Amino acid sequence: MLGPVILAASRSDKMRRFVSAAPGTKQVVARFIAGETVDDVVPIVRELSERGLEVTLDVVGEDITTVEQSYAARDAYLELIGRLEELGLGERAEMSVKLSMFGQSLDDGHELALANVRPVVEAAAGIGTTVTLDAEDHTTLDSMFAIHEELRKDFPQTGCVIQAYLFRTEDDARRLAANGSRVRIVKGAYKEPASVAIQDKPEIDKAYVRIMKILMEGKGYPMIGSHDPRLISVGQELARRAGRKPDEYEFQMLYGIRSEEQNRLAAEGHRMRVYTAYGTDWYGYFMRRLAEKPANLLFFVRSILTK
Ligand code: FDA
Repeated sequence: MLGPVILAASRSDKMRRFVSAAPGTKQVVARFIAGETVDDVVPIVRELSERGLEVTLDVVGEDITTVEQSYAARDAYLELIGRLEELGLGERAEMSVKLSMFGQSLDDGHELALANVRPVVEAAAGIGTTVTLDAEDHTTLDSMFAIHEELRKDFPQTGCVIQAYLFRTEDDARRLAANGSRVRIVKGAYKEPASVAIQDKPEIDKAYVRIMKILMEGKGYPMIGSHDPRLISVGQELARRAGRKPDEYEFQMLYGIRSEEQNRLAAEGHRMRVYTAYGTDWYGYFMRRLAEKPANLLFFVRSILTK
């Protein structure tokens, strides 16, 4: 019940100001956000890499309101890619981007987001890595998939995310599996209406399994984004049945969540990638993490009260 309330709060400026200023917030945020700057995140990429884990880096931010902010988002990724190149970490780390941070919701946002993300994808390819387009709320997805298709003409490794809770997703999965795309499947983290999304959690899990099967049997590269132990073991079984080798699919989890399980999967020989978010505009990302697990909210409230 709490999840939808927290997700609604994740879009409120008033709550943003309250949460950002609350004592104790920083300490809880640090569990999910790897730092504020490139300098903070580089040692973490190294450490994860030494543990045998791969990384996808997300400069947090979304729903910007000016064109200048969209350029700043592009430049933040270009700076990150430059640093990874200098440090020889390019092949360990790919990037995840939210197109709303690249201007997608502004006037002529589709073109603006494409123009901003293209140099990032190009720079990533230049250091031997790639970019995945995150999935945001359902109103943004037609534009996201069109940008994905456009980028793949020159950079076929560009990935995208699909969300099991949406009714549309099995069709999207079939199309992406047939055209050989890199696809991350996740349950879905936004507050979506019953007209477009499954509301019942067990039904979302069943859809997730059906979609994993489509991806595993297809021509693309499936990326299983989940911390759910049952879905992870079904994913392993589907990969085995589809005859996929360990480098023909991967698991992904978020930084700060189920780290032991991340290590275990990597030690078993699976490719395991940790989605590592950093930056100062962490509010929306942080609130979605609270919504996913009510215990996080209790921990957060307790840490505010004890400060
Ligand atoms: P579920 O929520 O059922 O969790 C299973 C178990 O994992 C829980 O019981 C708990 O132990 C642990 N867990 C899960 N979330 C936790 C949390 N926040 N704190 C502590 N423990 C937690 N969504 C989206 O809409 N668009 C996107 O682009 C992405 N991208 C993305 C990338 C990657 C790599 C991951 C792993 C996830 C996303 N997501 C996402 C988020 C996704 O949609 C979903 O909200 C979360 O992954 C939680 O769902 P699970 O599959 O982990 O299952």
